Amino acid sequence: MGTSVSASPAFTTDISMKKQRVQVAIIGAGPSGLLLGQLLARSGIDALIIERQSPDYVLGRIRAGVLEQVTMDLLDEAGVGERMHREGLVHGGFDMLFKGQRHRIDLQQLTGGKQVMVYGQTEVTRDLRDARQAAGLRTVYSAEHVSVHDFDTAAPRVRYQVGGEQHEVECDFIAGCDGFHGVCRASVPSGAITEYEKVYPFGWLGVLSDTPPVHHELIYANSPRGFALCSQRSQTRSRYYLQVPLTDKLESWSDEAFWDELRLRLDPAARDHLVTGPSIEKSIAPLRSFVTEPMRFGRMFLAGDAAHIVPPTGAKGLNLAATDVKYLAGALLEYFQEKSQAGIDGYSERCLRRVWRAERFSWWFTSLMHRFPENGEIGQKFQEAELDYLIHSQAGARSVAENYVGLALNFGE
Ligand code: APR
Ligand code: PHB
Repeated sequence: MGTSVSASPAFTTDISMKKQRVQVAIIGAGPSGLLLGQLLARSGIDALIIERQSPDYVLGRIRAGVLEQVTMDLLDEAGVGERMHREGLVHGGFDMLFKGQRHRIDLQQLTGGKQVMVYGQTEVTRDLRDARQAAGLRTVYSAEHVSVHDFDTAAPRVRYQVGGEQHEVECDFIAGCDGFHGVCRASVPSGAITEYEKVYPFGWLGVLSDTPPVHHELIYANSPRGFALCSQRSQTRSRYYLQVPLTDKLESWSDEAFWDELRLRLDPAARDHLVTGPSIEKSIAPLRSFVTEPMRFGRMFLAGDAAHIVPPTGAKGLNLAATDVKYLAGALLEYFQEKSQAGIDGYSERCLRRVWRAERFSWWFTSLMHRFPENGEIGQKFQEAELDYLIHSQAGARSVAENYVGLALNFGE
């Protein structure tokens, strides 16, 4: 890969502008855009994906990797679940560590059998991209100067440049799957949109290493030194995170310093089991809660990170993106097949209800597990007392488990 899959042969030339028409123009080839493309293709809806980066760049981004049942089902529905079932790791619980001791949240027992799948977002994106390519569906990579127009009319358009050539796509709808820094949300007049945001006063320093995971399930650790997370990608590849001040520089974290600090945040058994090795990726990511309301602007819809960001503590980002896309694909199908506006009109409200539930959980779990220096020693004590309550109360533990495994697709309906 690495080259653009060029757009449709059905161009009409307009002096310097190549024109084409599709039913849906999807901006962004991250997990949201690719999954939407796949679901639409299965319903016979013609879509073009326009992505500003190269395929390799898109796959190079390392992000969380815990899939809820709803997301697994969607990947199956999209016809890309085969490798996930083969290589993904099914987890029936996770550990919460505080005051130097680990306590298991038994997801299966607390939620009537629900589990999660540990399968990296990179792999999800790769499976979706490969399926799209195999089906001969069109994606324009390395598109420059992408812009969206006239989405408040019945004839929206998208413009972009590739190799110095100007292209224009006429479409019925635009799907803004272009992430937090995308062009779609930025193109909405400020009076038509409300943004809610909380930026946390710390980041996550992540390390990926080809070492066996310290534990067969995930460990979320509350320590007076700050939060730590032990995650994994496979039996031989681990993913670890440390809460660090936003002022920390990546260069000042050698691999050795990372492992030393991680050990100090773990319990004695985990400390002894930890296998260390050279990092194959290391990065610092800020934490943010962010929601855009509404998620529809005339004939343009936002989905995934373009509309909302959660701090990664609850691993909800990809799952929320997947359910937005499911609702959007359903709404578009209803429009094209049944000539009904109902799905489209209900899209924003339907997504946002679910989004706010996941935002609340992610904020709460982040607040519970991280060190907030401004809250002092008493803040740490409050957290430990709450954790003690949660793990010793069926109701408390069930609440954590229910939120972690996620809501049913049609919750509350
Ligand atoms: N034009 C075209 N493409 C764009 C533009 C633009 N102006 N701006 C951004 N993009 C592309 C990005 O390069 C990226 O490939 O849109 C894509 C958005 O992908 P993601 O950021 O991965 O967002 P999304 O697909 O919604 O995935 C959500 O990512 O951050 C995690 O936790 C989140 O797991 C969740 C998932
Ligand atoms: C990850 O494996 O990257 C991961 C897992 C769980 C989280 C966040 C990140 O809550």
